[in-house]
Amino acid sequence: MYWESNIVWDKVQNGLELGGRQGGLSLWLALKEKTVVCSDLKDVKETAQQLHLQYNIASLITYQDIDATDIPYENYFDIIVFKSIIGGIAFIIDGTTKYIESGREYDMMKSKFSFLTRVLEITVDNAKQML
Ligand SMILES: C[S@@+](CC[C@H](N)C(=O)[O-])C[C@H]1O[C@@H](n2cnc3c(N)ncnc32)[C@H](O)[C@@H]1O
Repeated sequence: MYWESNIVWDKVQNGLELGGRQGGLSLWLALKEKTVVCSDLKDVKETAQQLHLQYNIASLITYQDIDATDIPYENYFDIIVFKSIIGGIAFIIDGTTKYIESGREYDMMKSKFSFLTRVLEITVDNAKQML
């Protein structure tokens, strides 16, 4: 993996995972004997701790609910890691949704993704860019 060979791991002791949900990257850092704050928007201890308890690294990980657009630390971590969260933090959207189970849009999506059973249509009232 790119990070394995391009980070000077001896200089890293203290990490932060953003948007961790199940905390996979926190586990990865803890297995390297780094201390980690495993974070997500909410309830991260509930979603991530189960995975971590299967390994002998629990003392290296603490849990904190953190919004990646408003991180309550400055000049504190040696490394900040995240995976698949940009879509979640780039915009906050207000609107209404409905499932479509037939019709032109449904047929168009079905022709591209044969496995789908319905399409979620989102009517956006307001989109606020966060980045
Ligand atoms: C697709 S999941 C990815 C979870 C995990 N990183 C992974 O790769 O399996 C997106 C995650 O980003 C989190 N997220 C969305 N907006 C966020 C924000 N503003 N700050 C922190 N996390 C956020 C969600 O709660 C969710 O856990």
